Amino acid sequence: MIVCKSEREIEIMRKAGRIVADALSIIKEIAKEDVTTEDLNTRLEKYVLQKGGIPVFKGYRGYPKSICTSINEEIVHGIPDQRRLRDGDILSVDIGVEYRKYVADAAITISIGEISEEVENLLKVCEEALNKAIEVTCANNKLSEVSRSIQNHVESQGFSVIRDYTGHGIGRQMHEDPQIPNFVSKELLKADEILLQGMALAIEPMICAGKYDTEVLENRWTVVTKDRKLSAHFEHTVVVTENGAEILTV
Ligand code: MF3
Ligand code: CO
Repeated sequence: MIVCKSEREIEIMRKAGRIVADALSIIKEIAKEDVTTEDLNTRLEKYVLQKGGIPVFKGYRGYPKSICTSINEEIVHGIPDQRRLRDGDILSVDIGVEYRKYVADAAITISIGEISEEVENLLKVCEEALNKAIEVTCANNKLSEVSRSIQNHVESQGFSVIRDYTGHGIGRQMHEDPQIPNFVSKELLKADEILLQGMALAIEPMICAGKYDTEVLENRWTVVTKDRKLSAHFEHTVVVTENGAEILTV
């Protein structure tokens, strides 16, 4: 069941979203060569707590850290540790914050030092796919149109869309209905939803330079591309409005 949020609830989610967005801005400043992903985790955890938020990933199904840091072929759920960022890496950072019982969730992928034009393009296309998806998110449009806009853009640029992980509704829980696949399938069309004002959605294209098949590493969390080619991830929490969508994680 998809729960629509009241204006009062959306106002709280805006505050949660603001903390998430500011945390990701900090990442853009501090994620440099030689910094460890654990350093990033420590810094953001402090920031969130100082703002009165709770890092929701920590403890979620036993997840040990406050953020996910996924490097290069890692798609999502990379666990911060003593690994140091290297020149030419791409780093996805995903963070979810609970504030007064409501959650906001967002992710970005950034480059460390110099990356090739081709890799730059992977990041650009992923972010564009997210923006295009937000552009079609509107009351009375179909959920599958959100998925379709992502798939069309990504595949038209020669990249693949990850199929094993999806976006999701969000609110009191980090994961609520509906699931938001980044591609269109028969199953999605059969169970399609009409978007309604007040639905809060975490839209999150995960894309890759090679094939879309995934694998989970031995730590039982980190998801990588099977062919070990690069992957990017961008995510915003948005709320559906009468004539569009409002991004909450800004
Ligand atoms: N942001 C992820 C999502 O949207 C959740 C990370 S899983 C966790 O599904 F375990 F790290 F919390
Ligand atoms: Co999410």
